[in-house]
Amino acid sequence: MDAYSQPNTNNKGEPRKGLDTATPPLVVAIVGATGAVGSLMARELATMDALNTLNTLNTGTTLEIRLFASKRSAGTKINLPATAGLSVNPIVQELTESSFKGVDIALFAAGATVSRRYAPLAVGDGAVVIDNSSAFRTDTTIPLVVPEVNAASIIRAGVAHAGVAHDSVAHDSVAHADNRGEQHHLPTPPMIIANPNCVAIISAVAINPLHHAYGLESVEMTTFQSASGAGMAAMNELVSQASSFTTMDDLSTLHNPRNPDDDGATRQFAHPLLFNVIPQIGDFHGDGTTEEEDKIRFELQKILQTPVRCTATCVRVPTLTSHSMSIALQFRDEFTLPEVEAVLRNAPGVVLYNNHLEGEYPMPLVSSNTHKVYVGRLRKDKYDPKRLHMFVSGDQLRKGAAINALQILELAIK
Ligand code: A2P
Repeated sequence: MDAYSQPNTNNKGEPRKGLDTATPPLVVAIVGATGAVGSLMARELATMDALNTLNTLNTGTTLEIRLFASKRSAGTKINLPATAGLSVNPIVQELTESSFKGVDIALFAAGATVSRRYAPLAVGDGAVVIDNSSAFRTDTTIPLVVPEVNAASIIRAGVAHAGVAHDSVAHDSVAHADNRGEQHHLPTPPMIIANPNCVAIISAVAINPLHHAYGLESVEMTTFQSASGAGMAAMNELVSQASSFTTMDDLSTLHNPRNPDDDGATRQFAHPLLFNVIPQIGDFHGDGTTEEEDKIRFELQKILQTPVRCTATCVRVPTLTSHSMSIALQFRDEFTLPEVEAVLRNAPGVVLYNNHLEGEYPMPLVSSNTHKVYVGRLRKDKYDPKRLHMFVSGDQLRKGAAINALQILELAIK
């Protein structure tokens, strides 16, 4: 335990109720703790089921959270809820090469450059890394995990890294001896697990059960992605554009892309987002596809474990949180809508929200601040009986990022 941690004892120095001080805490580092996803990871981890999981395992293990960001925000205080069994240093520390000493699990949410540099160091120090960036997602040796869809890929990757026969460890919760000689139930050897792109996570939760029921042949989607998908600064820029807008005359004060005096240096997007939609997320590739569109195609194939044809058009819209998508699925088999509804009603992580006559359909205002993927506007294609249309919405900071990472963390400690 470091100098700032809240001790697991009361002010008389006695062990706090229910805590076994003989067992060392499970130490979780959050890299990017001041960012849109990292701050949510910290808050959710402080309250969510990870602690219950530890309690269920009856290990007596407590949880310690350490917060890291860049030098800019070192010293910032982040207040987290006081939860029994949790000790946390609320002061953000500058990330350095020695930040991972004694860390069991490192959650990375500081972008690909930081992950490429520091994730291997964390693994070298014995930590399991759960990385929210795109740095390792295309690496075939690194699992890309949506727990509702392909949790088993963690075991497969662990086996491949260990170079041992699958059967010998398939159902083992392997005790991981860290460099302090203590025992936690973590994948062995320490490894990187990639958290997928937010649209890939949300769409995979909705598509996977239908793929298993009817045999997926192709996916076409158009996305409606919120400002916060580009980070805290992007969300703040939209809020500030909106709060400075009071009358129609203010339209002229919004950035004009054709104004040569405006170099756009402070803009987070290629164009103003307020009262606009921008059909570009990420850089363009030579064939006119964007980086985000290619990520979704590749990642959906990897998560669903099928080389399904996938085409996406990604659009930034002026909402703050939650990404939505209009999706057309081509199946091998025919289906009926009641069957599809039954499949989705029973699917893990899905809320069937399909009562359009009552105004019930997925929207950012419905899915934001929840951990679920909302699915509705279900329609059979008018020309093709094996083609389904649906509208999906999910909180991309939560299920599309922080919550998915924490679900992976729970899998890792089970
Ligand atoms: P900082 O606040 O110090 O810049 P978002 O995705 O919302 O833009 O947040 C990015 C997160 O990544 C922030 O917490 C940011 O910290 C952190 N970050 C950016 N660069 C680094 C770095 N070089 N080392 C550690 N953390 C970084």
